[in-house]
Amino acid sequence: MFAPEALYVLVAILSVAFLIHRRRRASALPLPPGPRGWPLIDNLFDWPFESAWIPFAEWSKVFGDLMHVKIFGLHIVIICSYDTASSLMSQASYSDRPILTMVGKLMNFTPSIVLAPYGEHWKAMRRITQQSLNRTSSIAFLPSQLLDARLLLQELLVHPGNYIGAIRYALGKNIIENTYGIRITSPDSEASGFTASDYVKLSRETHEVIQNAVVPGSFFVDVFPALRFIPEWFPGAGFKRLARVAKARGEHMVDGAFDAAKKAMSSEDSMASLVGSLLSSEGPKEMTREEYEYTIKWAAGSLYGVLLSLAGTESTTSSITTFLLTMVLFPDVQKRVQAELDAVVGRKRLPTFDDRASLPYLEATIKESLRFHPPTPLGIAHRLIEDDIVQGYHIPKGSIIMPNIWAMNMNEKQYDHPERFNPDRYLGPAPALESPVFGFGRRACLGVHYSTAAIFITVASILSVFDLRAQDKDGKDVQIEPAFTGGFVSHPKPFPCKITLRSQESAELIKAGTSML
Ligand code: HEM
Repeated sequence: MFAPEALYVLVAILSVAFLIHRRRRASALPLPPGPRGWPLIDNLFDWPFESAWIPFAEWSKVFGDLMHVKIFGLHIVIICSYDTASSLMSQASYSDRPILTMVGKLMNFTPSIVLAPYGEHWKAMRRITQQSLNRTSSIAFLPSQLLDARLLLQELLVHPGNYIGAIRYALGKNIIENTYGIRITSPDSEASGFTASDYVKLSRETHEVIQNAVVPGSFFVDVFPALRFIPEWFPGAGFKRLARVAKARGEHMVDGAFDAAKKAMSSEDSMASLVGSLLSSEGPKEMTREEYEYTIKWAAGSLYGVLLSLAGTESTTSSITTFLLTMVLFPDVQKRVQAELDAVVGRKRLPTFDDRASLPYLEATIKESLRFHPPTPLGIAHRLIEDDIVQGYHIPKGSIIMPNIWAMNMNEKQYDHPERFNPDRYLGPAPALESPVFGFGRRACLGVHYSTAAIFITVASILSVFDLRAQDKDGKDVQIEPAFTGGFVSHPKPFPCKITLRSQESAELIKAGTSML
């Protein structure tokens, strides 16, 4: 008979032997296919730095939907199939984020939900944020989203040419107010030394600096982390100056907005907000107050501001602008959406959230525009925590996992004529798969309910009172070739979009729109 201790030792030895064997077997398997590469630098010269989702989709025609590239030994796995991405990326072992030296360590954005490693700090932030952003709780944001859509119409009535700026401001304002309880009555409203337009501007500028840094492989220092120690004056160390500027702006935003929220709580004019309600509660027993406040600060900062703007404002602005682009590209679809709005809402009032369930063609058109061009075509990369074997290939621990959402949306097996803009694919008894624009598994977007509500009310309001046409400033019809920016959040490149009132009655509705609430 074995003593129990001996049994434990035996089980432990067998387990270790099994793991070593599995590891050996795993590494004896081939890596997924991909471009061949060179000694030492591997695929450095293959790596596409601009709109990488398009060349990756081309590669997948040769190498298949699960591809592997390597840059100086860093394994990167690109997935172009929805089924593979959703089955792998929903697993806990695929739920880490890449360690990005540039954006994480040098710019110091690692504590945000978006970039935090899969661990206790991330779980705590995700838990408290989810409480406010889940399907049921996010209903609380609808009145303010409706108000901001109405204010946007008033702005478009006066300055129709500045529609992108106006949309970005409206979304940014709404997220700031709901996150921090800072009341914003105009772009010049001030809180904690910042005006509202400062917040929107600062966030936009920070976003511009960091947006490429979130895409793995964009900076050498991510491949050679030791480069972060070279001094700023050293030739080629421009990335260090960039990082310093972004870090300062980021800290300014995260700390400044959090302090402003604390002040707003004690003012007479205080508004309900995510930070306010979290600060008023005790927090989890296992956390000190200091740890709890740190968690709230970064959770809030992840919704608006720095990476924040990546998460919230920029992606929603991109989706609304892409929707408007599709309306000028496909005027017949625009007419059908407006006919549905006229039938359900009529021309004597503006749309509300109560109309949403009765507007299936508009909902289908929103889904199709998200499929037509996803705001984050390469999602946000995950990182694999342990070795894995997939479809007979070895995926090494530490691999960066990039879902090519754009390629998934253009997959002919999934979508009939994917290049065609066809909202009808989302209607009828067997609707097409919704594009995975909100990502995968445990790291999937926290703002899905909030942002789909914002997209709905914004585009429904605009199309109920305005016509959009592909016309230049002189009112001449022009042909548009849709084009999109590269980078992490991809926006439509500027396109001619003439916004005109549908009728004189529309102008009256817009002016009265906020007082009717
Ligand atoms: C149309 C608009 C939006 C799109 C397309 C979008 C897309 C995404 C994607 C692709 C991810 C990464 C998912 C993954 O790792 O697999 C993500 C993460 C995230 N999103 Fe969004 N997002 C949008 C709007 C928003 C808004 C409005 C908020 C906040 C109010 C938000 C908050 C977040 C947060 C906090 C994360 C990080 C989740 C984590 O790492 O645990 N997003 N989003």
